[in-house]
Amino acid sequence: MVYCQWTKHCRGESRPAGLGLFASVDCEIFHKLASVQGARSEIVAAMGTFLPVLTDVEKRSLHERQPLPSAYLGLEDEEMDVRIAAARAALGDRLVILGHHYQRDEVIRFADYTGDSFKLSREIAKHPTAEFIVFCGVHFMAESADILGLPHQQVILPDLAAGCSMADMAAPDQLMTCWAELEQMGMASQIVPVTYINSAAAIKAFVGEHGGTICTSSNARATLQWGWDRREKILFLPDQHLGRNTAWQMGVPLDDMVVWDPDVPFGGLTRAELNRARLILWKGHCSVHVRFTVPQIEAVRRQHPGVRVIVHPEVPFDVLQAADDNGSTEYILRQVRAAPAGSVWAVGTEIHLVHRLAEEVAPEKTVISLDQVGCLCSTMFRISPNHLLWVLEGLLDGEVHNRVTVGESEKKWARIALDRMLSIQ
Ligand code: 13P
Ligand code: SF4
Repeated sequence: MVYCQWTKHCRGESRPAGLGLFASVDCEIFHKLASVQGARSEIVAAMGTFLPVLTDVEKRSLHERQPLPSAYLGLEDEEMDVRIAAARAALGDRLVILGHHYQRDEVIRFADYTGDSFKLSREIAKHPTAEFIVFCGVHFMAESADILGLPHQQVILPDLAAGCSMADMAAPDQLMTCWAELEQMGMASQIVPVTYINSAAAIKAFVGEHGGTICTSSNARATLQWGWDRREKILFLPDQHLGRNTAWQMGVPLDDMVVWDPDVPFGGLTRAELNRARLILWKGHCSVHVRFTVPQIEAVRRQHPGVRVIVHPEVPFDVLQAADDNGSTEYILRQVRAAPAGSVWAVGTEIHLVHRLAEEVAPEKTVISLDQVGCLCSTMFRISPNHLLWVLEGLLDGEVHNRVTVGESEKKWARIALDRMLSIQ
């Protein structure tokens, strides 16, 4: 059985953090497709088979997501392509579409700019005249765009249910409790709070107000250095893996790091443990990247001697240790594109990026997914062409659907933190 991350209702072999993409019926359909011997071996053999199967199942579930008018359901792919292109052309310079690398092909092909979180954040300032920024990504990215954008700009997320499970692992009240407990222990003044950009606007505002900053996977190292240049300790949230992996690569021993569990008083840590620590890691993770394992790397090395294994730094520590290289999505693309002809790459990140990269560099180079049954970010996948078409045609009709806004009080400090982030490279 292919294990399931699609829905908490799934009766298949599963990990707990189901993201609720499909209702149970369609999830079962997916499992049946994936476990039928023929279909499964095709899936394993070719990522290109996996994605259409998934997309077909999803088309039947679309009405269960953020509701769309019935006129936007059941459309043929070709018709959507033509209408999205037409709406985009009609909106001209009034519109900028940003697309994260994890977006599906039928959406990202309409992006004016593609990139990792850092690169996309920088694009916003380059388009001061655009009235609308349509963000094909997840909620925290749209919030960041609203914070960085100008007052007249409106940011749109085509499906408001496109969140990030990692960002949800750090709630603002949990951070406030954590900080209050650190203050109670007399330690807060020694600590710089640093949040990964994958976090809610309120978390970003909190770190901004408390002398901290935001990082992305492409400037995490420089950001930790920035923090330690200012204070003795860093509180890093929400991704423990990015924090641990980055600090370890900077030469910080694991003994200097502790994990703060937000569900336990004082993070479950003693004063002595906190005193010793230089890095306090929030107990959060990406449910997509924790699917990668060391046995997968061992298997791929057996199957493809000489393979280069490259992973995103959100993977667990042992996986990063077993890989040859790691970096942000943009870094992964750069490394593989610059690699010599004939090289073989196993990539540990979201399946849409891996599949597109494989197609782009073939036949000169070979790219395979480290997780052979495909590692999907089911919330990024929520941005469907139907939703994109709906928001674009809405703009033509003078209606702004799915605007994402951040309140003025949060915006002020979050903007300060994001500006600090953009200055650290
Ligand atoms: P990048 O900034 O590397 O694109 O990462 C974003 C993300 O959400 C990875 O899971
Ligand atoms: Fe969030 Fe993970 Fe999806 Fe990135 S891949 S958006 S961290 S759930």
